[in-house]
Amino acid sequence: MRLTHDTPLFPLQQGRITRQAHVDLPEGTFEEEFARNGFFGRTTHLYRTHPTTAWTRIEGPLRPHSYDLNQLPPQVAEAMFGSVEPAFAPVCLLHNDDVALHWVTPGPMDFFYRNADGDDVYYIHAGGGRLETVFGNLDYTKGDYLVLPRGTTYRFLPSEGEQRYLLIESFSEVSIPDRNQLGPNALFDPAMIDVPVLAPVDDTPKEWAVHIKRENAITKVFYPFNPCDVVGWKGDLTVWRINVKDIRPILSARYHLPPSAHSTFIARNFVICSFLPRPFEEEEGAMRVPFYHSNIDYDEVLFYSDGHFFSREGIGPGMMTWHPQGIHHGPHPKAIPASRQKDRTDEVAVMVDTWRPLKATTAAGLVENQEYWASWK
Ligand SMILES: [Fe+2]
Repeated sequence: MRLTHDTPLFPLQQGRITRQAHVDLPEGTFEEEFARNGFFGRTTHLYRTHPTTAWTRIEGPLRPHSYDLNQLPPQVAEAMFGSVEPAFAPVCLLHNDDVALHWVTPGPMDFFYRNADGDDVYYIHAGGGRLETVFGNLDYTKGDYLVLPRGTTYRFLPSEGEQRYLLIESFSEVSIPDRNQLGPNALFDPAMIDVPVLAPVDDTPKEWAVHIKRENAITKVFYPFNPCDVVGWKGDLTVWRINVKDIRPILSARYHLPPSAHSTFIARNFVICSFLPRPFEEEEGAMRVPFYHSNIDYDEVLFYSDGHFFSREGIGPGMMTWHPQGIHHGPHPKAIPASRQKDRTDEVAVMVDTWRPLKATTAAGLVENQEYWASWK
């Protein structure tokens, strides 16, 4: 028999508990959620007398990681991988067979790029400009997600100023999750999506290049004309854009919703969530910060883009944490009383939860805070 929520024996209960998870915790306890499928499946709550992150030391390879991407040297891709185009040199930080996370600081590109390995989802942390694609042009700015299906030919023409993008490269098709009973217009109305608009292209007679990435090797194909020479298109597969300001997070005044309520994109074996400014839970006994957990089925990456991050002290914009499955995390102990002093959170953060374990690259190691694990003590 497969045990489910509907199995008559369950939920079992022992000792001091609260019947409603995340609300009115027994005095002096810290709640841990022990759950399958990223808090979406079978779940047990453990009421503990200490935060599970209050370790004294850790031996062995498993530990939480934190990276300050602001500190990545501008020429790191060139230094590490040899010949790359300075105008477009994604630096891979974490990866597995489903997804790869890169940091991109592009300049104006005099060539086009095409990723034959996967879909490209950009989160624009800083900067903006014009994205030229085979479907037309799309202006973009801070807070935009740009979704480019595998095989799209494109280039960035950033405007002046600092450009810092998180690239989530997906080796399967990226889509948006079902809204189920929230209805089709929840979180963001599909009508808020923008797509490129065809416009006359630069038809300067010269040699135009398309750099195609296939199995991480670049092949350059050259044309005597602009390769974005499309004068019309129809269909349901294209580049699209949504800004985090146009995502309206759902919340409950009386219950701390799990991360899955903040899912923005899904793909094979991973999910992308957006944590956005919103009021805190207002009922006195309702938790306002995440429960402790080891997210037993997922590795969890959080990129912090803006605001004050309620679950972590010492983390600022442009930083990224990686909590591998199996080791605990949760609110920093100081965050629990701090959350009681405020009515809302102003955070903007992008989370990537991956089913399969991630690996960190040497580039990530250059900007890792080696003492992060100790900051939890
Ligand atoms: Fe988590």
